[in-house]
Amino acid sequence: MLTLGIETSCDETAAAVVDENGLVLSDVVHTQVQLHARYGGVVPELASRDHLNNIVPVYRAALERAGKRLRDIDGIAVTCKPGLSGALLVGMQMAQGLAWAAQLPIVGVDHLVGHLLAVFLRTPDQPATELEFPFLALLVSGGHTALYRVEGRDAVQITELGATRDDAAGEAFDKVAKLAGLGYPGGPIIDRLAQEGQAGGVPLAMPMQRQRQGSLEFSFSGLKSDVARWLEANGPLSNDQRLRDLCASFQHNVVETLLSRTFRAAKKEGLRSIVLAGGVAANRGLRARAHAYAERHGMRVVVPPAAHCTDNAAMIALAGSHRLARGENQRGQLEMSPHTQLTRVTRKGAGPR
Ligand code: KG4
Ligand code: ZN
Repeated sequence: MLTLGIETSCDETAAAVVDENGLVLSDVVHTQVQLHARYGGVVPELASRDHLNNIVPVYRAALERAGKRLRDIDGIAVTCKPGLSGALLVGMQMAQGLAWAAQLPIVGVDHLVGHLLAVFLRTPDQPATELEFPFLALLVSGGHTALYRVEGRDAVQITELGATRDDAAGEAFDKVAKLAGLGYPGGPIIDRLAQEGQAGGVPLAMPMQRQRQGSLEFSFSGLKSDVARWLEANGPLSNDQRLRDLCASFQHNVVETLLSRTFRAAKKEGLRSIVLAGGVAANRGLRARAHAYAERHGMRVVVPPAAHCTDNAAMIALAGSHRLARGENQRGQLEMSPHTQLTRVTRKGAGPR
């Protein structure tokens, strides 16, 4: 069974063909990073227009690279939430047009479920990951930072355990990079500079130190403000060692906060397998420290390859394929939403303290 996946929730136009075992036949991603770079963040109106320009060629490339035609496809999975409304609509209209034209079943997928299941994708040279439900997942991206208990592939089997009360971790990377004049997106740039810096070289606050014991929530806005204050007092920085130390110190504090909560959650939930998901899971510091934590706690950490961590349509196809296989069809009934369907315990700015 072949599923065509389509993803346009933010600043990547993506289409992919995936089979029922999660084998990726094609995975095409057109990124808009250059388009938004001069603004230091995603501009929604520009994103929608660029999706419109690229969705047809990206879809065609996905079929061509898979060596398939539309008539070989058995169903369509498209991201319908959460994300930028105008951006989501482009992918959804494309997917619905194809579904009507080819009389194919279609399902709407929650982008976050896609990220959480991306660990089950495989490629011809990357065998399937042996992983059983339930597992704990840390989803860290530009728009989301949260911990989940994942019991199965359906959205109702996924429970949020705690999330960020303000900025997402990726957003913090991007904002700090902007403050330091480093460019966009900030995550990969800070990641690279941090490799040559000294963590602790710049004294920065550790997020949520005075938080209640056992909390599974995150906050990164205080750390970001601390960087802003330090830069005001010590900047502007040229491309010198202090800049590398700043990056290493900031990254260290983000990584330690993420991992301390993650392993606390795994212990609390009695789970031994931990999955990292989302764009920030590409961070080398996070990956290395996660494996060190796992060894210390006698747990297992699974991190998908970087291309499956950042936004893609293969994860969307996979997240929809088991629903299509059991006969689900939402043709004519897809609903777009800027919000996730996963239940939330932390609300930005107003969650439990
Ligand atoms: O998952 P993703 O591609 O898109 C969203 O759904 O948000 O994540 C993008 C985010 C950006 O904030 C980017 O700066 C961050 O992931 N990111 C990184 C790294 N690569 C991407 N953050 C830290 N280190 C990296 N190596
Ligand atoms: Zn994402």
